[in-house]
Amino acid sequence: MRIGILGSGLMGGKLGTLFARAGHDVVFSYARTKGKLTRLAREAGRNARAGTPEEAATGADAVLLAVHWSRVDDVLKQAGDLSGRTVISTCLPMNADDTALVLGLTSSGAEVLAKKIPKADVVSAFGTVPSEVLFGVYAARKRARRPTLVYCGDEARAKKKAAKLIAGLGFDPLDAGPLRLARYTEPFTLLIAQLAYEGKGGPELAYRLERYEA
Ligand SMILES: NC(=O)c1ccc[n+]([C@@H]2O[C@H](COP(=O)([O-])OP(=O)(O)OC[C@H]3O[C@@H](n4cnc5c(N)ncnc54)[C@H](OP(=O)(O)O)[C@@H]3O)[C@@H](O)[C@H]2O)c1
Repeated sequence: MRIGILGSGLMGGKLGTLFARAGHDVVFSYARTKGKLTRLAREAGRNARAGTPEEAATGADAVLLAVHWSRVDDVLKQAGDLSGRTVISTCLPMNADDTALVLGLTSSGAEVLAKKIPKADVVSAFGTVPSEVLFGVYAARKRARRPTLVYCGDEARAKKKAAKLIAGLGFDPLDAGPLRLARYTEPFTLLIAQLAYEGKGGPELAYRLERYEA
C-alpha cells in the first residue's frame, strides 16, 4: 500500500518506519522541521520519503493521522481533499496539557474527525498502544502469540485495509465494531498509558484480550 503519514512524531514516526520496513511505500509529513522528515525517511529505508501533507495524502491507499488533537485542523487543511481516502487515526482528543480527554462516552475524537472529513472513511486504530512497544511487537511478529489491537470504523473496505496493516505490524487485529465504539477505546487508552508509565507493566506493556468459549 501507499501510506501517507500526517504527523511524524512518536506514533507517526514509528508506525511509518515499520510500514516501510513491512514493504509499504511511505511518505512522512508534518513535523516542525523538514530535516526531521528527511532523517526519518532515510532511517526507514528505500520505501520511504519525506513530503508535504498534501503529497502524503495524494494517491494514498491509507493516510495515518498522528498529531496532537490541537493540530488536527491545521494538518487536515494542509493535506487538502481527503475524499474517498481511508484515514486511520491514532489521535486521542486530549486537552492542551495532555491531562484529560475533552470528549468521551457520548462522542469520541474519531467521530468528531469523521464529521470534519465526511467524504473520507475514518478508522480508529493504534491509539490503544503506547508507541514504545511498536518496534518490539514488530520484531516478535512471527511468534504465534500476538498482542491484540482493537480498531473500529464504519466502512468495511477501509477497515479491511486497517486490519491488514495492523496484522503486518505483528498484532492480532480485533474489530471492535462501528466508529462510535471509539467512545470506549479512547478512554481505555488512558488506562493503558497509566499501566505502561505508572503501573508495574512498564512502557513495554502491550495488552492481550483473550476470547473464552462457553
Ligand atoms: N505517543 C503515544 O504513545 C500515543 C499513544 C496513543 C495515542 N497517541 C495519540 O497519537 C497522536 C500523536 O501522538 P504522538 O505522541 O505521536 O505526538 P507527537 O510525538 O507530539 O507527534 C506529533 C507530530 O506533529 C508535529 N507537529 C506538532 N506541531 C506542529 C506544527 N506546528 N507544525 C508542524 N508539525 C507539528 C510534531 O513535529 P516534531 O516531530 O517536529 O515534534 C510531530 O511530528 C496524539 O493524538 C496522541 O494522543 C499517542
